Amino acid sequence: MASALTMFTGLGRKISGKDTQECRTLQVDMPARSSVDIEFNNITLKVSEGLRSKKKTILRSLSGLFRSGELTAIMGPSGAGKSSLMNALTAFSTTGVSGTIRAGDSVCELGKRDRSLSSLKAYRKKSCYILQDERLNPLFTVKELMRFAADMKLGNTLPEKLKLSVISEVLETLGLTGSENTRCGHLSGGQKKRLSIAVELIDNPPVVFLDEPTTGLDSSTSVQCIEMLKKLARGGRTIVCTIHQPTASVYSMFDQVYILAEGLCIYHGSSANTVPYLASIGLQCPKYHNPADYILEIANGEYGKFNDVLAERCTMQGKEQKSLPQPLVSADKEEMSCGKISIVIKPPHELYKFGVLFRRCIIQQYRDWTVTHLKVLLHIAIGIMLGLLFEKAGNDGSKTISNLGYLIVSIAYLCYTSLMPAVLRFPSELLVLKKENFNNWYNLKTYYAAVLVTGIPLQIWYSFVYSAPSYFLSGQPLEISRFFMFVMVLANVTLIADAIGNVIGTCVNPINGTFLGAITTCAMIAFAGFLVLFAHMSPGMRTISHVSFMRYAFEAIVLSVYSDGRQPLPCPETKLYCHSRYPSELLKQFSFSSENYWPNIGVLLTEIVIIRIIAYFTLSRTVRTSN
Ligand SMILES: Nc1ncnc2c1ncn2[C@@H]1O[C@H](COP(=O)(O)OP(=O)(O)O)[C@@H](O)[C@H]1O
Ligand SMILES: [Mg+2]
Repeated sequence: MASALTMFTGLGRKISGKDTQECRTLQVDMPARSSVDIEFNNITLKVSEGLRSKKKTILRSLSGLFRSGELTAIMGPSGAGKSSLMNALTAFSTTGVSGTIRAGDSVCELGKRDRSLSSLKAYRKKSCYILQDERLNPLFTVKELMRFAADMKLGNTLPEKLKLSVISEVLETLGLTGSENTRCGHLSGGQKKRLSIAVELIDNPPVVFLDEPTTGLDSSTSVQCIEMLKKLARGGRTIVCTIHQPTASVYSMFDQVYILAEGLCIYHGSSANTVPYLASIGLQCPKYHNPADYILEIANGEYGKFNDVLAERCTMQGKEQKSLPQPLVSADKEEMSCGKISIVIKPPHELYKFGVLFRRCIIQQYRDWTVTHLKVLLHIAIGIMLGLLFEKAGNDGSKTISNLGYLIVSIAYLCYTSLMPAVLRFPSELLVLKKENFNNWYNLKTYYAAVLVTGIPLQIWYSFVYSAPSYFLSGQPLEISRFFMFVMVLANVTLIADAIGNVIGTCVNPINGTFLGAITTCAMIAFAGFLVLFAHMSPGMRTISHVSFMRYAFEAIVLSVYSDGRQPLPCPETKLYCHSRYPSELLKQFSFSSENYWPNIGVLLTEIVIIRIIAYFTLSRTVRTSN
């Protein structure tokens, strides 16, 4: 391994030097090419459509073999079950699926609870799945996304130059050279599709599944895309894609086709053999007719009901064919091995991946100006506005009640502005997260840790930029320690609200989430001990109020400005009497005890940890169950 690396370092240097022209294309195969055939038996998918209705069978006992070195197309009319079969074969969604899948040496029995997890993980490691919808982060450029994928999949064991040359080679293979610096949000549909293939190809996966890679592409781009897939297949990979209505020329490019109709397989064989096969059973394809169209018309029942007969023949043939594997790849083997060196790369450690994710989160936060810049500006503006609204209330014995209002409004404002975006955040990131996590880019724990580590300083920063103008304009005591204690309470509030928002956002859909988020905030404020004093609550309600984190936050924030020997507040000369000018009396009235500041902060911190852990589990459940 070490010697291979040294050799590569040398090579990398050589290419960048002036004798570039002497060099041939550098291809690095990572990991060392291993042929993985995919064999599946009795794949059945049953879904329940309602609580009471009977289960609907979508896939009916499908079996087949997809060989390495071949490009296989799964075809069928719309609703035939192509995507469902793809999701089942990739183990992307396993609910309701039963049957056996074998990929190389790992066997995965779906639908059997006891041993499914470890075999599923091993199986999933072998393949990658490129979904129909492009799940790319629009804020990053092509080069950055490729770089991110390369860092995630290849780690730091490869020299920098070699990594770059792998990236540019993959980009060239997919015809993306020239768009390196374009942000994904600005790419055309076809380019996005090719980029979502490119990021997965970086570590040379032995098995690639693609759902409708040509949908939305024009005919010549479709041909290019299939040509490219065929080239990849010839490199020893197993490539399986679903396709909708291919042209005759595209159809002839597939080595194998697997035709579905009503959840049954009606033809599994080479594309060239389709017409003779159909003719042998009396279905004569008209001259100059596209065989792909013809077989889809048969599947649609335009020439009569042949699906069951065809499915039966297909099953019988499948059993016979298994005994004669003809690896197409053998013919190209010599060509492939010429001038290429294989190097085995272990996926990087999660700690390294954490670093890469951390960088990506920081860049994402910085680029998404609504998250960072706009929010900071708004917090400053609201801070100034509230500061002016409660002007000098903090240092005026006649305005103490207004000042308590300022304190609770600050808590409510920061709670609301942290909770709502958090409710909406994961639903919008979930698609990308699910895809990357499914394709083994990183562990969910690593992602979550990176999100937390980048999010926490930001939340503290928000609390600070809000507090700075409002604290001083509203006339709170000019003492560094009190200001620090004040910001600390608000930072805890934003962190708890963010965590609660994450739990809600990962449990329910965004519409219900915003509703639930608003209710939660209102309930918390009602039990905070300001609108109704604890002394006025019934014992039952007082017990319930312990659930509200705002109870602790409100007590702590009041203590931050009024405890620790604060002198009586000045009473303006225009007033005869200021009822609440004695801080100690005020605290007594609210049943607050002076030494409770740090215990309250302790409770808030504990709640943050607990809710964060809950949020992790709800997120992981959502990632597991969503599509
Ligand atoms: N969760 C589900 N509940 C009910 N029906 C479903 C579910 N998932 C898929 N189907 C149905 O299964 C059939 C096959 O769907 P799909 O695999 O998406 O078809 P396609 O071949 O167009 O990709 C469709 O009729 C679809 O309505
Ligand atoms: Mg589909």
